[in-house]
Amino acid sequence: MQAVLLLLLLAGASKGLDSTCDATQDAACYGALGGPVYLQLMRNTSGHTLSFHNERKAIFTLRPSKTVFYKDYNTPSFLQRWQFVPDNGTLIINPAERKDAGTYRVRIFNKSTGKSVGEHTVQLIIEAPVSDVDLSISCSANEEWRVRCSSNGDSPQYSWYLDGRPLSEADADLSADIQTLLLNGNVTGELTCSVSNHVNSTNTSVLLLDVCSGISSVFISVWLAEIIILTSLLVGGYYIYIRNKRTHTPDERKDQEVELTPTSSY
Ligand SMILES: *[C@@H]1O[C@H](CO)[C@@H](O)[C@H](O)[C@H]1NC(C)=O
Ligand SMILES: *[C@@H]1O[C@H](CO)[C@@H](O)[C@H](O)[C@H]1NC(C)=O
Ligand SMILES: *[C@@H]1O[C@H](CO)[C@@H](O)[C@H](O)[C@H]1NC(C)=O
Ligand SMILES: *[C@@H]1O[C@H](CO)[C@@H](O)[C@H](O)[C@H]1NC(C)=O
Ligand SMILES: *[C@@H]1O[C@H](CO)[C@@H](O)[C@H](O)[C@H]1NC(C)=O
Ligand SMILES: *[C@@H]1O[C@H](CO)[C@@H](O)[C@H](O)[C@H]1NC(C)=O
Repeated sequence: MQAVLLLLLLAGASKGLDSTCDATQDAACYGALGGPVYLQLMRNTSGHTLSFHNERKAIFTLRPSKTVFYKDYNTPSFLQRWQFVPDNGTLIINPAERKDAGTYRVRIFNKSTGKSVGEHTVQLIIEAPVSDVDLSISCSANEEWRVRCSSNGDSPQYSWYLDGRPLSEADADLSADIQTLLLNGNVTGELTCSVSNHVNSTNTSVLLLDVCSGISSVFISVWLAEIIILTSLLVGGYYIYIRNKRTHTPDERKDQEVELTPTSSY
């Protein structure tokens, strides 16, 4: 159990934003918006050179002495974010922007002959990391917990846990929109909503302490009872107040008596 948990944590950590995407062959790579993106474009850098293109034009090429960026990309704002490390064949984009997303072509050449030895395509997808998970919960009239999880970030995927275990079909109606969950009212424990996308994941939990058992109808009867008690207290209090006034305030007594005379015959 401990080992499994540790493994999961490690898996989560290796998914971190600083990991390098293997783009040495046809690949789809995900990068976090605003974070650094590492793309390893070639494995064996010795004796090889490469060029990097988008769908329309060449972006840079590796020359014996250095990396040369072509015209449109040879600008301070671009060079501040894009860097190619010849030693390990890694392209670093930091911070990544949405406009960096796209389809790129990598061409690898034999350095001494200049002949092409390979070509592959790298799809770069930029996603905003998930954040600010919000969990709202209510007890519906038909004795079910209705739980809704929401978050920021691109393409969030939701998953649910009860006391750390994945929620089973027995506990919940998982067929519905997975962002909204209907749980049997008798379910108690720590409910966790975990949100992830390709670049980040996060979670939040809530404690279900009481059973959800038609709380709304109980609530209404309590509310009605309170109204009745309050009304009786107010009416009774006013009645006593009037009586006290009649017996203890001589100045107003005459006026009161005039008004109260008809009723005093009861
Ligand atoms: C890299 O390429 C060089 C030259 O072709 C070769 O001698 C070397 O063994 C290669 N290294 C790896 C790890 O493939
Ligand atoms: C480049 O080509 C030459 C001549 O064909 C060959 O001897 C050499 O091994 C090649 N280098 C690499 C890195 O493949
Ligand atoms: C390649 O080198 C750069 C700069 O030293 C480093 O930041 C990066 O982590 C390296 N990547 C790999 C895959 O070794
Ligand atoms: C992932 O999301 C969490 C929650 O918003 C945030 O605290 C964390 O910094 C994010 N990680 C990265 C690497 O962006
Ligand atoms: C909760 O209620 C369902 C039916 O609504 C029932 O099948 C299940 O056994 C109950 N679980 C507990 C722990 O009472
Ligand atoms: C929730 O996130 C914490 C770290 O932020 C992690 O240790 C835990 O395993 C996560 N729980 C689930 C159910 O994903």
